[in-house]
Amino acid sequence: MTIHYSQNTLKPFVNDLKSEGKKVGFVPTMGALHKGHLSLVKNAMTDNDIVIVSIFVNPTQFDNATDLQKYPRTLEADVALLKTLGNNVFVYAPSVEDIYNSDVNSEKFSFDGLEFEMEGKFRTGHFDGVGTIVKRLFEIIVPDNAYFGEKDFQQLMIVKKLASKYKLPVNVVGCEIFREASGLAMSSRNQRLSKEAKEESAFIYKTLLKAKEKFGTKSANTVKEWVQQQFEKHPLLTLEYVEIANSKNLKTVQRKSKNETYRIFIAAFIENIRLIDNIALN
Ligand code: PAF
Repeated sequence: MTIHYSQNTLKPFVNDLKSEGKKVGFVPTMGALHKGHLSLVKNAMTDNDIVIVSIFVNPTQFDNATDLQKYPRTLEADVALLKTLGNNVFVYAPSVEDIYNSDVNSEKFSFDGLEFEMEGKFRTGHFDGVGTIVKRLFEIIVPDNAYFGEKDFQQLMIVKKLASKYKLPVNVVGCEIFREASGLAMSSRNQRLSKEAKEESAFIYKTLLKAKEKFGTKSANTVKEWVQQQFEKHPLLTLEYVEIANSKNLKTVQRKSKNETYRIFIAAFIENIRLIDNIALN
């Protein structure tokens, strides 16, 4: 498998394939690949002739230096996993310098308010960092289609907004959350959980499912309070936030309307590791 460490080799490589009429799919990742990532790559392989997977732990989207430092980096294992998928998958694993030169800072973005909700409230500058890296990667690769998981639903919406605001010629595809048998949403951060914490973290998804049931008959506030109470009773998990939001604009639900769709979002800590999850409510 070809691994490109620099945009100087990647760009001509992709350009040649494009000039042969090949359709390019793109899966951006921060590595520590799991089955969820592989399902994104498989989706990309179905829709495109070749797939580029970027593996880059983007420093500007971390608001916490320890989190950045502890983020798992497993390039060799990641490449071995991708190799099992086929010959049309290629890796771009740039250095920080290749992306940022010497200026490791985010650009400033407006995502029409999407950036101020949930993750944006709790992770200062996170979406400027995500916007910066995704825009640069889109500009380097110029993919036809790019694939993002719904676990980071807010990120997916922000990337769609980025593509439309900057008129980037890419189709952004959202893919369903891939879960462990226990229901725990797959995440690279799960690799850092102890066995017990991993088992206990399935509580997040179970609570989301029960909340969905309650949302049929109860108000959004009642459901949120109920979720908060469940987490207060949990010995290991600490809730950072629960939010019920309109799926189109991520605004907090004040009053339910039959014509709108909603999702419930949770961020919680266990063993100092931050996990997020969300599901559709209707
Ligand atoms: O979802 C992620 O893994 C990252 O936020 C992304 C999209 C690869 C940008 O660094």
